[in-house]
Amino acid sequence: MIISDKIQKLITNQEGWTRRMFEEGLRIKKQYGEENVYDFSLGNPDTETPDEVQKALIESLSNPVKGMHRYMSNNGYEDVREEIAAYLRELHGVPFTANHIFMTVGCAGGLNILLKSMLSRGDEVIVPSPFFWEFKNYIENHGGIMRLVQTKKDFQFDIDKIEKAITKKTKAILLNSPNNPTGAVYTEESIRGLIELLNTKRGQGQDIYIICDDAYKKLVYDGFRLPNLFQLYDLVYAVTSHSKDLALPGERIGYVAISPNITDYGLMVSALMISMRTLGFVNAPALFQRIAGKFQKTSVDIGEYEKKRDLLYGILMEAGFECVKPKGAFYMFPKSPIYDELEFIRALQQEERIMVVPGRGFGRKGYFRIAYCVAIETIQKSREGFIRIGKRYTKR
Ligand SMILES: Cc1ncc(COP(=O)(O)O)c(C=O)c1O
Repeated sequence: MIISDKIQKLITNQEGWTRRMFEEGLRIKKQYGEENVYDFSLGNPDTETPDEVQKALIESLSNPVKGMHRYMSNNGYEDVREEIAAYLRELHGVPFTANHIFMTVGCAGGLNILLKSMLSRGDEVIVPSPFFWEFKNYIENHGGIMRLVQTKKDFQFDIDKIEKAITKKTKAILLNSPNNPTGAVYTEESIRGLIELLNTKRGQGQDIYIICDDAYKKLVYDGFRLPNLFQLYDLVYAVTSHSKDLALPGERIGYVAISPNITDYGLMVSALMISMRTLGFVNAPALFQRIAGKFQKTSVDIGEYEKKRDLLYGILMEAGFECVKPKGAFYMFPKSPIYDELEFIRALQQEERIMVVPGRGFGRKGYFRIAYCVAIETIQKSREGFIRIGKRYTKR
């Protein structure tokens, strides 16, 4: 065969739902016209990059500096890493230096180099579910085994279940808060419960690392403050992306922040450098490292996302759906009114031309994900469809 068995399996894999629904959306748009399809399938922000970022890019290219497009050290420019470290020192009150920051090719690139650097074959990574499906691929890319643990109804941790899932092989727990697909953020109480458990394990001689996927860390609503993980636990890696907060997903820029409390961090930096090279990333994009350094305190208009959340949540409530109100990111994860959410989302698609993704694509059947990073008009125009289908299904 022209391709490997492993990749063949991924191609035929029934769970690549987000892309499948996106492709299906494209087909339906051709048939009915783009304006008559309400596509909530993909987390690709419709927001534009902030003006000041655009200006800085133009400025940078208009005043080229010698060598600005050359290779640099695998962990990125030192001055950029120092700018990020300064931001994180202020944010977390923890003594980050440039050496604790590693520039990456987005969050996806960051997670891959980190998992490659951490995992030996057969090591296990606990992932609270519902979860971002790519985590499975990232973990398995590097010989790891994903152990899914369902969260509670409110999408907070079920500590008993996490405790039961820990084995001698558990190396890390991979968190994502605000969460894709639920929009939930882990509360201080949830995080403290988890850390108490992990500290007990440390006391028994087992170090379990927290890897925090921070792709949505600035997209938080209602004035909620994310718990300060770096203050609460020593063994933390945070992987950040500027795909969402600066609306730069196509430019592939992010970073790994290593807790200064990890005493062997120098060894980890060497490992990340090797992983960066051997996976073929080499270094994060030069131009966008500069942008990342300058714009740590900038983000797209969070108020706009909050408005969209409120509008969509109101529509779902009016239509009779059950849904935990999300506190962050740009996803909602309502319960399907019938257990077979595939049947329900097919009806949504065929009868109302509304595209969403089935919950089984995120590890929980009976739910569906709505990505509301779309124009506000799309949400407004989808209202009638949600209400009509809600009447038919939720009132049965
Ligand atoms: C939870 C989560 N992590 C990582 C990524 C990938 O981020 P990046 O574009 O920075 O690689 C996404 C993208 O949607 C995501 O939802």
